[in-house]
Amino acid sequence: RRRIRALDLQKAKREGRRWAMLTSYDQYTASLFERSGVEALLVGDSAANNVFGHDTTLPVTVDELIPLARAVTRATSRAIVIADLPFGSYEVSPEQAATTAIRFMKEAEVHAVKLEGGTRMADRVRAVVDAGIPVMAHVGFTPQSEHALGGYKVQGRGDAAQQLLDDAKAVVEAGAFAVVLEMVPAELAARVTAEVPVPTVGIGAGASCDAQVLVWQDMAGLRTGPVPRFVKRYANLDQVLGDAVRAYVSDVASGMFPESERDFS
Ligand code: KIV
Ligand code: NA
Repeated sequence: RRRIRALDLQKAKREGRRWAMLTSYDQYTASLFERSGVEALLVGDSAANNVFGHDTTLPVTVDELIPLARAVTRATSRAIVIADLPFGSYEVSPEQAATTAIRFMKEAEVHAVKLEGGTRMADRVRAVVDAGIPVMAHVGFTPQSEHALGGYKVQGRGDAAQQLLDDAKAVVEAGAFAVVLEMVPAELAARVTAEVPVPTVGIGAGASCDAQVLVWQDMAGLRTGPVPRFVKRYANLDQVLGDAVRAYVSDVASGMFPESERDFS
């Protein structure tokens, strides 16, 4: 079976089929998620938090993300692989956006890129699309702007609803093939989904979106402690992996591992 393309995800919307996206930053998760039916893999700038241990997504660089994205494309043959353009790599000008997106296409061989911002980034979306690169836009709460937005907050409430709708329409008009809606009231997300012709990908945006995305360490329970209310934990990987490691440590301490059948004579 061939690689899923941006056009296939748009066709799914027309045919009323929902699809799932998960983040992935390495070969094993990429291969496993693809084999488990995930249509789209996002090499998110959330690698800043989930791989590199930063508090925000802002510090991660293009040079750090490209090798992760390369691993995800190398490990898969069916899922569409989308890489985030990290903070600082596209805001300055349309030329900067196209140049960065081209690097991801050439060096990581991803199939699309994602960038944050609505109306204010529409010319960057257009420049990347004009280079022949599918763009997923991202509106609502945009983590790269968290300092300007004043923290993790629901976007598009009350009077801000029209602006959010305008933002989604602006990036679609500029050529985006899909739009992530992050932390948007479910009712507004439903309205955006009905009014734009391309798929909406919700995260904290209700069940009416055409697709959903989660960070894999969140949904698999590898991340411990409080998580945003939109996260559903489908497993408790912290427990599972912790149990395995505790058993190994204990077996090493007691001499139970390695067993003699593992010895080389
Ligand atoms: O970087 C990321 O993980 C994301 C998704 C959560 C949408 O942008
Ligand atoms: Na991101």
